[in-house]
Order: sequence, then structure tokens, then C-alpha cells
Amino acid sequence: MRGLKKAFILALCVTAVLGLGGCSSIKSEKRIVRISHAQSETHPEHLGLLKFKEYVEENLGDKYEVQIFPNEILGSAQKAIELTQTGAIDFVVAGTANLETFADVYEVFSMPYLFTSEEAYHEVMGDTDYMNQVYASTDEAGFRVLTWYNAGTRSFYAKKPIHTPEDLKGLKIRVQQSPASVNMVKAFGAAASPMSFGEVYTAIQQGVIDGAENNELALTNNKHGEVAKYYSYNKHQMVPDMLIGNLKFLNGLSSEEREVFEQAALLSTEVEMEEWDKQVEEAKDIAQNQMGVEFIDVDVQAFKDKVSNVQQDMLDDNPDIQELYDHIQKINEKYAKEEE
Ligand code: GCU
Repeated sequence: MRGLKKAFILALCVTAVLGLGGCSSIKSEKRIVRISHAQSETHPEHLGLLKFKEYVEENLGDKYEVQIFPNEILGSAQKAIELTQTGAIDFVVAGTANLETFADVYEVFSMPYLFTSEEAYHEVMGDTDYMNQVYASTDEAGFRVLTWYNAGTRSFYAKKPIHTPEDLKGLKIRVQQSPASVNMVKAFGAAASPMSFGEVYTAIQQGVIDGAENNELALTNNKHGEVAKYYSYNKHQMVPDMLIGNLKFLNGLSSEEREVFEQAALLSTEVEMEEWDKQVEEAKDIAQNQMGVEFIDVDVQAFKDKVSNVQQDMLDDNPDIQELYDHIQKINEKYAKEEE
């Protein structure tokens, strides 16, 4: 009899955990941790976040359940950051462009041609001790970056081919909602149209804009290759995405719990980065061979020359970026020397 009763209670609890009611005391004891992001469920970031969920639940599963909300279903990056700020949700993944209004040091990543090699980019972002100082810059705003995700290299793509910077003249190009991104695209000679990521497909399709700028996964994962058939490798930016957590939530964790969440974040980056490399190669193949996108190799130097004064202008306008900028230049030089 005791065995039967035990089995019955167990069944009830399983039902409760599955969210089907019953045994509510156990259900309500778990703290639901909500994470929002803008990508699809096959994107490297989603796969990285599944690792985050797995690690947290493996180690603290009696207390926390992690729920991941993809595809901007909780709102665009800007909205989801605000939800994370107030604690309505706990984490969000967003590009640094969206953080500029909270801490202007993040403007540095919007500089065209900031990193001179992928190696330098990875070394800067992978130096957790150094980056933690930068990550603390949004503490006053109520959130803190836990880790970064690779979001590749951004280039222009449009309905018309872009071979030289002159081809950008008169084009209306979508940019992320950040003043630095607007200025950058203007410096290239195009008209900048800021809007959220989720709006881009329809805007290109309906001719509201001529094109956008992003990594190759935007063509496939976000299907922009269906409506913009020319992708030009001018490679103007490497802009990371950030996993951002509500600071009250993070500070409310015990030190053991905090360690688990931080470790989960680092593991999610490892998974994301491996997936990234794989998926970019696949995306190029799918875009070219299944979607009919033409990849155009351009004279990158001509694009660099077009915006050669932008870095200095940005440094003059915003002294808060100088230190991080200098740090990045040192690492750029290190890899430039290795190549010689
Ligand atoms: C990339 C990046 C996102 C960003 C998006 C955009 O997909 O990973 O974080 O929001 O570009 O251009 O808005």
C-alpha cells in the first residue's frame, strides 16, 4: 500500500512538473528563469542557450527552471532589454548596438573596421577578466553582461549589387537602432533607416528599404536572402551579441548559484561559437545554391577609405571609448605583427 501511495504521489508530481496541474507546492517552489532572444530555434545562439539551460538545471534543477523565448516573441531587442532591466524577465541576448543608450562605451563596437582580424576580435572578447570591467558599465542601468556570442562579420546586402562605396549612394539601408550605426551608414554615403531586426524582411520585400547590413545567417536563418539577392563582402564590422542578466537577480543568487550561472554562460558561448563556424559555411552554401544569392567580393580598402575619419570622429565625441579602443588597437597590432 505504501508503495502504491508513493507511486501515486510520484505520478502527481511528474504531472505537476510537466505543467499539467496537481502537486502545486512543488511546482511553485521552482523559480522560472526567462531568457529572450531574437533568433530562430536553429540559430547558434539558441543552441548555446539550450546548453545554458541544461547546465543550470543539471546543477540547480530543484530550484530553477530555465525557459527560452526565441524569435523576439517577448519583444524586439530594445523592448526585451527593458524587460530585463525591470526584472520582468531575467536574461536577454542583444547586440552591443542596443546597449549604447545604457552605457556609451559599447559605441566602440559600432566603429567601422575596428578589429583588423578575426583573431584580434576573438582575443579581445575572450579575455573575460578585461571584459568584466566593460560588462560592469551597465550596473547602474540594472543589468550586467555575463558572456558574449560571436555574431560574425557584417557586410552590406541589397536588391541591387554593391561593388564600390559609390554604389551605396542613394540607397536606403536598414541599421540597428543606435546613433553610431546611423552615422556609420551615412558616412558610407547611404541613407540610414533604423528599425528592429524583425521588421527587416518585410521592409526589404515591400521596398521600404533597399537593403541592410548583417552577417550571412541573416540571409538564411532570417530568410533575407529571399528578398535581397546581392551580398557584398565589404566586412565593415564585427559586432558581438551579449547575454545580459538582471542585476538584482544575479546579486540575489548565493555564491555557489552565481558560479553555476556564470559557468553555464561560458559553456553556452563555447557551444555557440562552434555552431557559428559550422552554420556560416552552411549559410553561404544555402544562400548561393538554394536561394540564388550572389556573393560579391569587393575591394575592401575602398570601403575603408570611404569611412577613414569615422573612428577619430567617434573618439573625439565620446572619450568613454578611448581606453577600450586603445586596448583593442594593441591586440590588432599583435596579430598584424604575427602576419608579417
Ligand atoms: C544579428 C545579431 C543580432 C542583431 C541583428 C540586427 O543577427 O546577431 O543581435 O540584433 O543582427 O541586425 O539587429
